[in-house]
Parts: sequence; C-alpha cells; structure tokens
Amino acid sequence: MDTKIILSEKELPEAWFNIQPFLPKPLKLPLHPQTKEPIKPEDLLPIFPKALIEQEVSQEPYIPIPEPVREVYRLWRPTPLRRAYRLEKALGTPARIYYKDESVSPPGSHKPNTAVAQAYYNKVEGVERLATETGAGQWGSALSFACKLFGLRCTVYMVKVSYEQKPYRKVLMGIWGGEVFPSPSERTNFGRQVLKENPDSPGTLGIAISEAIEDAATHEDTNYALGSVLNHVLLHQSIIGLEAKKQMKLVEDYPDVIVGCVGGGSNFAGLAFPFAKDKLEGKKDPEIIAVEPASCPTLTKGLYRYDYADTARMTPLIYMYTLGHTFVPPGIHAGGLRYHGDAPLLCALVEEGVIKARAYTQNPVFEAAVLFAQTEGIVPAPETAHAIKAGIDEALKCKETGQEKAILIGFSGHGHFDLAAYENYLQGKLTDYEYPEEKIKEALKDLPQIP
Ligand SMILES: Cc1ncc(COP(=O)(O)O)c(C=O)c1O
Repeated sequence: MDTKIILSEKELPEAWFNIQPFLPKPLKLPLHPQTKEPIKPEDLLPIFPKALIEQEVSQEPYIPIPEPVREVYRLWRPTPLRRAYRLEKALGTPARIYYKDESVSPPGSHKPNTAVAQAYYNKVEGVERLATETGAGQWGSALSFACKLFGLRCTVYMVKVSYEQKPYRKVLMGIWGGEVFPSPSERTNFGRQVLKENPDSPGTLGIAISEAIEDAATHEDTNYALGSVLNHVLLHQSIIGLEAKKQMKLVEDYPDVIVGCVGGGSNFAGLAFPFAKDKLEGKKDPEIIAVEPASCPTLTKGLYRYDYADTARMTPLIYMYTLGHTFVPPGIHAGGLRYHGDAPLLCALVEEGVIKARAYTQNPVFEAAVLFAQTEGIVPAPETAHAIKAGIDEALKCKETGQEKAILIGFSGHGHFDLAAYENYLQGKLTDYEYPEEKIKEALKDLPQIP
C-alpha cells in the first residue's frame, strides 16, 4: 500500500466544517469582561471583522471557503496523509499508524489554515494591519505570511522565552514582513506594567494576547487575530480532518484512535471534529485523545469555569477548562502548548466524555520525537511530539493486546526552528516538570466569581 495518500488540488474541500450544531448542549455564551452579561456580536467589532464574528456564532454545519482563500491553500494543500510503516516496524506493532502532515505548509505548521482566512476577511473589510501574539513562533510566522499575501501589515508580540529560544522564527517573520517584539514589551501599557512588577518575566501567551489586543483596540486601522481557541479558528482548521477523512476512505480505513496535541486546541479540533461528528451521530466510535504537557495541564487538572482568555482581563470571559488567567507555566520547549485555557468547543466535548485528555512530561515526548525522526525522517515540532508520544503509546498497547487498530496522529508541524530544544534533549539537559497541585490551586484562586 502507498506510503503517501495524496488528494489532487481538485479535491480540496469547498467548505469548512462547523461542529456547533452537533454539540449535545449549546455552548455557554461568552460574557462581557466588565458587565459580566453575555456579549453582543457588536462588542467585538473594534477588534474583529464582521465575517469572523458571524462565523463565531454560526450554527451552519458547513461554511463555504472563499475562492481567494482556496487559491492560497493550493500552495500546499491538500496535505499528505502518510502511513508510518517504518515507525510501525520499529515498534513491532500490529497497529496501522497514519499521520496527517501539516508540516508541509510554508511556515511549517497548520497555523496558516486560519491565518490565510483571517487575513482575507480583514482585508475585505478594509483593515490595514493585524496585531497578534505568538508562543512558539509558528502562529506569528503564519500570520506574517498570510498578511503579506493579502497586502496587510502584521505586528507580532512574541512570548519572551520563545523569542530568546528561537531567534530564527523572528527572521522568518521578518522575511514575510512581520514586525516582532518580545512580550512583555515596552510598547503597551500592559507590557510596561508587567515589566515594572517583574522585569525578568518570561512572558506567557496570556500576557502577549493582552498586548496585541491593546494594540488593536487603540489603533483605528488595526484588528486583532488569534491563532487558536476561538470557534472561527477551529472552523478554519477543520480542513485538516475533512481532507484526512477523504484520504482514509481512499485506503478503505477508518481511525480507531485519533490523537493530537493541544495548546489552545485548534490543530487537534481541526483533525478530530469531522470524525467526532460520526461519533456524536452514533455512526462510528473512535477513541479521541487530546494530549497536553504535564507542565501546563489544562484539560487534565484545570477547572471547567468562566475565565478570561488573557492576563490583563481584556477579553470576554469564556467557559472553558482553565488553570487561571494568572497561571505562568514553566518555559518548556513546547512553547505553543503553554496556554492557561483551551477552546470552549473542545472543552465541551471533553466534559461530555466524547474526547479524552492525557498529559506527558518533556523527556518521554522528545524520546518519541527522536524515534519518529529516525524512522519517518521528519523532525517534529516539540508540540507535535506530544501527539506522537501518544500515538506510539497506543501502538505499543496494540502490540501487547494484538489489536490491529488504525491510529491517526495529527502532525501539526516540523521542528526545524526548534533545534536548540533537541540539542538540550540530546545533552540530557531537559527537566521533567509536573505542575505542583498547590501552585495550580493558587492560580485558580484568581478565577472570576460568576454567579
Ligand atoms: C506546531 C504546533 N502544534 C500545535 C500548536 C498548539 O496550538 P493549537 O492547540 O491551537 O493547535 C502550536 C502552537 O503554536 C504549534 O506551533
């Protein structure tokens, strides 16, 4: 059988998939950060284009992908679904391991699937500049790339620890015309406030989000773009799972297990939701597993509550699993997974038991990534490596039980800019860190009290 399962450009999906109408219960509405009343769509107009606000609340199961977005997608999509024969052999497993390879995009991850769509809708509505945050640098690269293609300017607040760990991501953003600042920065009121309290702050996604929102809210020509968590982001990412479903069908297979890494939940949901629909409709019963770092265990140790999406409490309160908006995770190398909350759509399905969650520490994750690179060739991003670790563990379970399961791994990105992390791993310098319960309890004390 083929190693690469390829769709032609003609088979690029024409519509994104929206899971909202299939949820067992409707989502709890986001609340206004000051009044604590449900927000109205117009409250979001100062920072988001109308089209994206509509998608945020849409109950349509399928939303057409505009042709200019499909045209850009064709630069790298449809992405290959690959069968990991050599990894299977190395593990001695009877399982069939597939991975959907989003690393083939120009920035190297799944992030441009939504960056291109967001840049397009902002351009159509006359916006001139987008401000955003980035953790690992993948999202900042993707948005810089997308803005360049649609003639927008792009400003990126990059979490300081990643800014220092990954200098070449900055260069990549620069090539695509993005301007990059380490966050906390001196450019915003909130950044200055954080630096005053803690000049050595490593930064967090929550702080960087606050800075980008402040930038957008205080400049007429500028909107804000978020690379994960929001419903419209998960919608755009559904192209991953829609393609994967067609590809699995081509080889007359269907995943028994689906695994993906979770930072805010967008690549995982993008891959898993089109399959979760079959589960919700009682047609199939795949096991769907969300994987997170033990140092930022949002789904496995957080509370399901209303919380702010950023540290400065500027965003609406969203109902999600959270470790508290003041939570500062340690500077692990999977920078894209250091977020205190998760996408409400994903959290709702975890709460319903449709999706399970699991957490791993860094060293076993890097061990899995190196085995993957040594068998399949591609060096995974540290975030992606979490999914690979789970895929390998599932394949090893099959070895024990003799079950011939099909395992589908979300391969969210490559690690070509993460070599410093690999160097640390190879030199035995990575520490395994499980976030202590008492520190989690402490951060959870700051959760807003909503009656
Ligand atoms: C390669 C890669 N995978 C996964 C993630 C996590 O984000 P999300 O959970 O939104 O897919 C990131 C975030 O930066 C990333 O760069």
